[in-house]
Amino acid sequence: MARLAIIGTGYVGLTTGACFAHLGHDVVCADLDVEKVARLSAGEVSIVEDRLELLVREGISEGRLQFVVGASNAVVDCEVAFLCVPTPQKDDGTADLSYIEAASAEIASLMPAESIVVNKSTVPVGSTRVVERVLGRSDVTVVSNPEFLREGSAVQDFLHPDRIVIGCEDQSAAIKVLSLYLGVTAPTVVTDPASAETIKYAANAFLATKLSFVNAIAAVCEGVGADVNDVILGLGCDTRIGSEFLKPGPGWGGSCFPKDTRALVRIAEQAGYNFRLLDGVIAVNEEQFSRIADKVCDAVGGDLTGRTVGVWGLTFKAGTDDLRESPALSVIHRLTSAGASVRAYDPTVNAVGDLPSGYDTVDLAGNALSACDGAEVLVVLTEWDEFRWEDPVEVAALMASPTVVDARNLLDRARWERHGFTYRGVGH
Ligand SMILES: NC(=O)c1ccc[n+]([C@@H]2O[C@H](COP(=O)([O-])OP(=O)(O)OC[C@H]3O[C@@H](n4cnc5c(N)ncnc54)[C@H](O)[C@@H]3O)[C@@H](O)[C@H]2O)c1
Repeated sequence: MARLAIIGTGYVGLTTGACFAHLGHDVVCADLDVEKVARLSAGEVSIVEDRLELLVREGISEGRLQFVVGASNAVVDCEVAFLCVPTPQKDDGTADLSYIEAASAEIASLMPAESIVVNKSTVPVGSTRVVERVLGRSDVTVVSNPEFLREGSAVQDFLHPDRIVIGCEDQSAAIKVLSLYLGVTAPTVVTDPASAETIKYAANAFLATKLSFVNAIAAVCEGVGADVNDVILGLGCDTRIGSEFLKPGPGWGGSCFPKDTRALVRIAEQAGYNFRLLDGVIAVNEEQFSRIADKVCDAVGGDLTGRTVGVWGLTFKAGTDDLRESPALSVIHRLTSAGASVRAYDPTVNAVGDLPSGYDTVDLAGNALSACDGAEVLVVLTEWDEFRWEDPVEVAALMASPTVVDARNLLDRARWERHGFTYRGVGH
């Protein structure tokens, strides 16, 4: 078993640390956020992620998992340090490597001789070299090991991944990093750093493409009178296409797809290729936010000024509390800009202060029913399962008009229509 340091305890770092401790390694996780480190040391996980708190508590109680403030306090005895820090988007669409560079600079002189630094953050092609340059240590090997976990099922995805990708020119370092995953069964791809870095961007870009494609098909279905649910069924049965990630919705978002697709467009551009396909995928997504807002506007007769809209769901998908680049917020922004008042409920959002700036006019309801109070239209923007089970009779009794725009095709249309609702979904 190895001594590991994890730099950054967000969705990726905390999951990585807790899961490696679960696999038997000795793990020290570092973050800059003093309060977060104190809470984690007490076994409290503040993000919504299935089984994560359980594994954190298991790691702490079995003495294999510690939390410290500052990367420099984590790496002194480590054999392998994982960089799991943010790589946000810069104004020009490229990835901001400043967190990677700062963390690398902080640990440069402290990494033990012959140790390994692994880049788990999503970074542009060539970033392995950037870390090598900042470290300035010929005895420390830098390895790329991109992470593919999904928020909402992060622990499951880490312990049962579709694949493990290692990018490194040095065979023994690659084997060492791969050996840390002993106990995890998955196909492995061992390749050069540039290919490993490209795999991560290509995967996210392809998934975003699938979603934009199905939203475009849904728009065609609406035009020609087809039902997108049946179209998807027929489409997804083709094993070359597959049925995963073929669900129309309000558009894609989250902390990764938007920044990673834009970054790949810029990476391609810098490499001399005009990635028009991906530009189109991004444009279709922006359009989808507006298409949903337009459906809401149509549902109230074409003018949102002074209208009350009830909203179910704020996070970018169900199963997470992450609001970063949430399509629900993008749609709400369009609704409020057109003059609507929004009353919203999400099971993981407790205070307006949790919303990003610019959403302070949103009235946050304490439950799904009270979000409908006085609303002229209800919009389902996140696919939380609990919304499926709300009683349309109770909802209708609270609303000014029984109208629903189901941007996730989540509700049982026949049931809601039976109870007097005007129902508008996506793609039928
Ligand atoms: N969130 C996902 O679903 C996901 C999935 C795969 C890959 N990724 C990639 O993984 C990386 C991290 O993403 P995330 O969602 O976990 O980020 P996050 O914002 O949730 O967490 C990052 C953490 O790093 C800490 N940090 C920043 N600089 C630090 C430093 N110098 N020392 C110690 N801690 C530091 C921050 O305080 C924060 O707690 C990004 O590159 C992202 O694109 C994310």
